[in-house]
Amino acid sequence: MAPQPSLIQVLPPLILGGAGFSHQLTSNPNPLRTREVLKRAFELGIRAIDTSAYYEPSEELIGAALSHREMESLYKRQEYFLMTKVGRISATKSDYSPAWIRHSVHRSLQRLRTTYLDVVFCHDIEFVPEDNVLEAIGVLLEMVAVGKIRYIGISGYPIGLLARVARRARDMYGRPLDVIQNWAQMTLQNNRLEREGLHLFKDAGVSCVCSSSPLASGLLRDEGVPVGSLGDWHPAPEGLRQAARDAAFYTKSVGQSLASLSLRYAIRRAQYSSTSEFSVATIIGGTSVREVEENISTALEVLRRKDGIWQWNSKGGSELGETGSQEQLEDDTLLFNGVKLIMGEWRNYSFSEDPVTQAGALLVPPKL
Ligand SMILES: NC(=O)c1ccc[n+]([C@@H]2O[C@H](COP(=O)([O-])OP(=O)(O)OC[C@H]3O[C@@H](n4cnc5c(N)ncnc54)[C@H](OP(=O)(O)O)[C@@H]3O)[C@@H](O)[C@H]2O)c1
Repeated sequence: MAPQPSLIQVLPPLILGGAGFSHQLTSNPNPLRTREVLKRAFELGIRAIDTSAYYEPSEELIGAALSHREMESLYKRQEYFLMTKVGRISATKSDYSPAWIRHSVHRSLQRLRTTYLDVVFCHDIEFVPEDNVLEAIGVLLEMVAVGKIRYIGISGYPIGLLARVARRARDMYGRPLDVIQNWAQMTLQNNRLEREGLHLFKDAGVSCVCSSSPLASGLLRDEGVPVGSLGDWHPAPEGLRQAARDAAFYTKSVGQSLASLSLRYAIRRAQYSSTSEFSVATIIGGTSVREVEENISTALEVLRRKDGIWQWNSKGGSELGETGSQEQLEDDTLLFNGVKLIMGEWRNYSFSEDPVTQAGALLVPPKL
């Protein structure tokens, strides 16, 4: 059997997030809608989905959509990536015990109707003791050895904690984690992942990073923060929300949506940070065909596709996508700077006190 490629060789630069197909974010997650959204996303070149056992019933909906005869006839399992998470159970409960981790992986396999998972993350590691996370990583590695999982990683918000656990995992198991997922910190509002995190992750031997929540979980858009069946859960304080409203007013005045501009920013920074040895993929949101079409067409202004599939720009830098131009890059830079000015003191404000030095000190638990 051919050796498994390293994750950087196979992870696409654009991934669709599945948290939107959950009760947390949608009052009535809908099977038909999930199938329509995934079908359109795949038609537009998406080949990777990120979800979690915690985003109920996202795994079931995605599993049913992908095993629907139409999707199954068009896309074989080995042609796309399924990424899920273990350990987080509810807004207030996590279970990182070995028995639960094993149970959760087997349940995800069933729910997603697959014989293997491409990536499994320990979900939101800031809510459990570090030693429990390290033990869970050991369990995931056992499941890699028997072919149930291909790659493993950790996800969460505090950058310093993620880096420390990645270093400890490498020392303990003699191999680096394949991937780290960090949310809402490679955005127009907060770019600490690029400034403070990536070099720490590289030092821990990690070569793939997933930057999720490019709109800072709905903060950076014209409509304002989403309010779903969980109520108003978004951790942004009122001053930051006002700054985001002001930024949306500004971008609207020049004929741009804050969501599109923010997505272009996040993808450009991910691309800029990526080389053939180290890559940053962006996990986008979107729960309707309209949003997915809009987000993918925005991404196309920055990223390239070949044979219908998203490609890495392995050279890094600011190479433009299919429809982008140098002029657009310059226009965007002006707008990025305008939004950063409006953000003022809220620029690089973090939802945790200091993600690098006070890892784990999350003030407000994230919902995702
Ligand atoms: N701890 C973790 O591991 C973690 C944390 C955060 C995120 N993630 C992953 O990253 C994925 C993306 O995160 P996210 O949902 O926070 O992403 P996001 O893109 O930052 O925010 C999504 C929010 O923005 C809205 N939206 C998306 N596209 C839009 C557009 N074009 N115009 C206006 N509004 C738009 C969505 O609305 P609708 O509700 O209408 O779709 C939703 O409210 C998640 O699904 C999950 O897979 C993981």
